[in-house]
Amino acid sequence: MYEISAKELFLWIRDIKKSSQDIDDLYLLLDLMGGISKSDLFLLKINSLEKVSLKINFHSLKKKWIEHTKLSKPIQYICGCSYWRNFKFELSTDVLIPRVETEQIVEIATDIIGLDDNKLIFADLGTGSGSIAISLVVENRNWKGLATDINIDALHIAQKNHKNICSESNIKFFCGNWWEPLIHYSGMINLAISNPPYIPRNVYERLPSSVKDFEPKKALYGGEDGLSHIKQIISEAPKFLVRGGWLILENHFDQSKKIKDLLRKFGFDSVKTINDTFGIGRFTIGRYK
Ligand SMILES: C[S@@+](CC[C@H](N)C(=O)[O-])C[C@H]1O[C@@H](n2cnc3c(N)ncnc32)[C@H](O)[C@@H]1O
Repeated sequence: MYEISAKELFLWIRDIKKSSQDIDDLYLLLDLMGGISKSDLFLLKINSLEKVSLKINFHSLKKKWIEHTKLSKPIQYICGCSYWRNFKFELSTDVLIPRVETEQIVEIATDIIGLDDNKLIFADLGTGSGSIAISLVVENRNWKGLATDINIDALHIAQKNHKNICSESNIKFFCGNWWEPLIHYSGMINLAISNPPYIPRNVYERLPSSVKDFEPKKALYGGEDGLSHIKQIISEAPKFLVRGGWLILENHFDQSKKIKDLLRKFGFDSVKTINDTFGIGRFTIGRYK
């Protein structure tokens, strides 16, 4: 551990606040690399004569912050990890930084199924860091997960996270194109969840450099209208889902209507849009008849 005075730390934070940089990113850096949470900091303010223990030396911490601001590199990639729901996930630039708005997908899945379903098999298509699949098995001990991704390096990160967070072997990982590696589970899957790449071309081209230059294009870009992966996932779903099985998709704010039409076309009922906490129609669900 490395000690500095609380005063020294606060002066640095004050300078960063003055330069109107994103202070939440700084708190995240302090937490993930320095080992000081936001609530630790608020307690410290009461007596700023105290000493503070950091997990890395102050100079290195400052260098990490400069790397973040100079290159617009997300703090999560600099630290190699991030929080999502109740867990800390390891990350690399092979995987998308799991977004806070996606957290709701875990609740949607649990609400749809209820807490007492015993032998449920679910698929997390495009698992990335494994955040959705891992949260689902930890929160629903009887569920068995099948997690797929086209990117083998992303799958390695997901497998590492699974090992770190959950000691049970309740997720199997598969590399391949959406449903393709799950051929042996045809007609057996009760629930499928996907946060696929859904950003349309014109939006992708205008993404901030912190996203476009660092996060994998494969994880974001959904073709001209953003729907190319979603179309593939929906059209192949009937082969893999049980009758009465659910599909839950995250989507771009303006895609719900088209996705609902697609779901109905491919044999789904109970089709609806679910708003996120900002009132945006971010999720679309349907049940295979
Ligand atoms: C938006 S990210 C979602 C990652 C993670 N599920 C999350 O919510 O943070 C989409 C993921 O889909 C994967 N992917 C892209 N194309 C794919 C394909 N054709 N088949 C399977 N996975 C794919 C990407 O590698 C990426 O990990």
